[in-house]
Amino acid sequence: MYAIPLGDDAELRPLEPWHAEEFLAHLERGREFIGQFIAFGSKAVDVPSAREALQRYADMRAADTASLHGIWLDGKLVGGVLTLNFDAESGNAEVGCWLEPAATGRGLITRAMRVLIDWAVEERGIHRIEWVAAAGNTPSLNVARRLGMTRDGVRREAHPYGGVRHDLEVWSILAPESREARARAAQNDH
Ligand SMILES: CC(C)(COP(=O)(O)OP(=O)(O)OC[C@H]1O[C@@H](n2cnc3c(N)ncnc32)[C@H](O)[C@@H]1OP(=O)(O)O)[C@@H](O)C(=O)NCCC(=O)NCCS
Repeated sequence: MYAIPLGDDAELRPLEPWHAEEFLAHLERGREFIGQFIAFGSKAVDVPSAREALQRYADMRAADTASLHGIWLDGKLVGGVLTLNFDAESGNAEVGCWLEPAATGRGLITRAMRVLIDWAVEERGIHRIEWVAAAGNTPSLNVARRLGMTRDGVRREAHPYGGVRHDLEVWSILAPESREARARAAQNDH
């Protein structure tokens, strides 16, 4: 199985139904933190439901409408990155991400996202990558900014979650901007 090194003993790998036990253990470590603004993983409460959640992504991946990759840090699953509403025909896709709290603050998501966006743009011909986050989700919006995305606007009170209707910020990066951002990031790495 392929694994893409992210530095600092971290790797990006496909996250698949057979990872159900590991996925559930990871969610149990991060459930409250991950669920602050998104319902990701909320239906995975035991091994069968964790497998079902992963199977839904496997099915969408087979249909070429989504993908799911985990981030393993020192051999432990700590989070991941995904594509959603992936439409190669129109050249549009959305990306998303999550981490358990212990893995935050190291740039893992920023680095994993660069890999995912490069793949979408260069291998799949995606032109526009969208990032949607609750207006109060500052760490998420910071990642979008760090990736070189532009804030398109706000879908006011579009996200009913936890008894509150949250504003949703929509950010995006276009293929040429992504290439420029990648070149800038490569320069900063040296
Ligand atoms: C959104 C989320 C994944 C962001 O996590 P994160 O750790 O802040 O993001 P990254 O992994 O890219 O790390 C960036 C942080 O590491 C720091 N960092 C350290 N080394 C770094 C490096 N080499 N490159 C980039 N950042 C680095 C950055 O300064 C930043 O910290 P700061 O925000 O305190 O300045 C996390 O808050 C989360 O899982 N939230 C819950 C789920 C969620 O809401 N997902 C998004 C839905 S829209």
